[in-house]
Amino acid sequence: MMNENKASNRMWGGRFASGPDAIMEAINASIGFDRKLYAQDIRGSLAHAAMLAETGIISTEDEKKIAHGLNTILSEIEAGKFEFSTRLEDIHMNVEARLAELIGPAAGRLHTARSRNDQVAVDFRLWVKEELLRIDVALGGLIEAFLVRAEEHAATVMPGFTHLQTAQPVTFGHHLMAYVEMFGRDRTRVRDAVERLDESPLGAAALAGTSFPIDRHMTAKTLGFREPTRNSIDTVSDRDFALEFLSVSAICATHLSRLAEEIVIWSTSQFGFIRLSDAFSTGSSIMPQKKNPDAAELVRAKTGRINGHLIGLLTVMKGLPLAYSKDMQEDKEAVFDAAETLDLMLAAMTGMIGDMEVNAAAMKKAAGSGFSTATDLADWLVREAGLPFREAHHVTGRAVALAEERKCGLEKLALSDLQAIHPAITENIFSVLSVGNSVKSRTSFGGTAPAEVRRQVRYWKKRLKRDASLEKKG
Ligand code: ARG
Repeated sequence: MMNENKASNRMWGGRFASGPDAIMEAINASIGFDRKLYAQDIRGSLAHAAMLAETGIISTEDEKKIAHGLNTILSEIEAGKFEFSTRLEDIHMNVEARLAELIGPAAGRLHTARSRNDQVAVDFRLWVKEELLRIDVALGGLIEAFLVRAEEHAATVMPGFTHLQTAQPVTFGHHLMAYVEMFGRDRTRVRDAVERLDESPLGAAALAGTSFPIDRHMTAKTLGFREPTRNSIDTVSDRDFALEFLSVSAICATHLSRLAEEIVIWSTSQFGFIRLSDAFSTGSSIMPQKKNPDAAELVRAKTGRINGHLIGLLTVMKGLPLAYSKDMQEDKEAVFDAAETLDLMLAAMTGMIGDMEVNAAAMKKAAGSGFSTATDLADWLVREAGLPFREAHHVTGRAVALAEERKCGLEKLALSDLQAIHPAITENIFSVLSVGNSVKSRTSFGGTAPAEVRRQVRYWKKRLKRDASLEKKG
């Protein structure tokens, strides 16, 4: 490939040891990353060849040779014996060139009624579909880990926050179940994305379809797609499935990142709500007392990569005229990296949730600070003394101001002091001023009462079972 003349071009050759051929090869080749698609590429080719034989476009004899050659290549790649070549650009041409070496001229018939444009779309859709199904399983595992901890801590009281300021006491189980809702929605988004991408591009050819009497329904079925795509131009132009994969991943990563941030906060010595296991934290090389939540911090940080990939591919796609343009080759690294990153984040978070040690005493102590039962006092005035809520709010504000002045909690104020603020207050008020009673009273559907949290856990256990049976059907 060396071209001495061109290599010495002073305008643009300096950075490269060899000539424009080498530069072109470097910018053009995708084999460095799309080799990941080898199994899907071979599956697609096997399905295509079988269909070509079935429809009489190629002979059964040639199809046998092709299938045998492709299976040989599959084992060569899996045994690490296959030599990938950048000169052959991508996975499709690497496989086809090796097929020609193995079986001779029959190899040339495989690409009848097909183009790399529909081929790459098939390979990539198959890969993304498999990855979505892996994420679906991982999300199921994460939700399960949450349910165990939520059930265990259905009655553990902690402060609930708004603006990261103590708002009202909640149960830790309830807080954990909030994440179950988020990851549950992520799972439905994953399944929706699978539904939408479940159409086979094979047979769209370069962009216009083909004059050969192919059977696209047959290849769709062989490859496990629900049906073939309907418009050949759209088929080779479309990367919605990749964008959707990235957006589903970005939303899921964002949920993981919020959880990671809470884990970082909860595990500080100031909060002390949880202790991460040694497996998911590291020590400091200089400060012996430290235990750093590195895994959580990295989950938080890696979200940036996934969000970046989404914006990256949206930007690649936004200016492309129909149909295929080589720009679209940039879809793969974004998706591969996002997938690998998300898999790791989900695994790390499942481990952290399962292993974390919960300090219920610290949570309870914090739950009582910051006048967290002020709303309970106001609600009591409405319920027991018949005050309009706005007035009750005002009366409570005065009680809080007094407690602040006395530097004590609401429950430590004397009954006479409270009665001085409003005469309708009785001894009974103290039954709602404790954090335990506060959470127990919030029995509204979806509320934080332990009984309600246990009901939510039961709902999700059933739903996990139902979703698992869907998995088997799919
Ligand atoms: N490596 C290419 C890609 O990933 C395959 C399709 C090439 N098609 C073409 N017309 N050059 O997009």
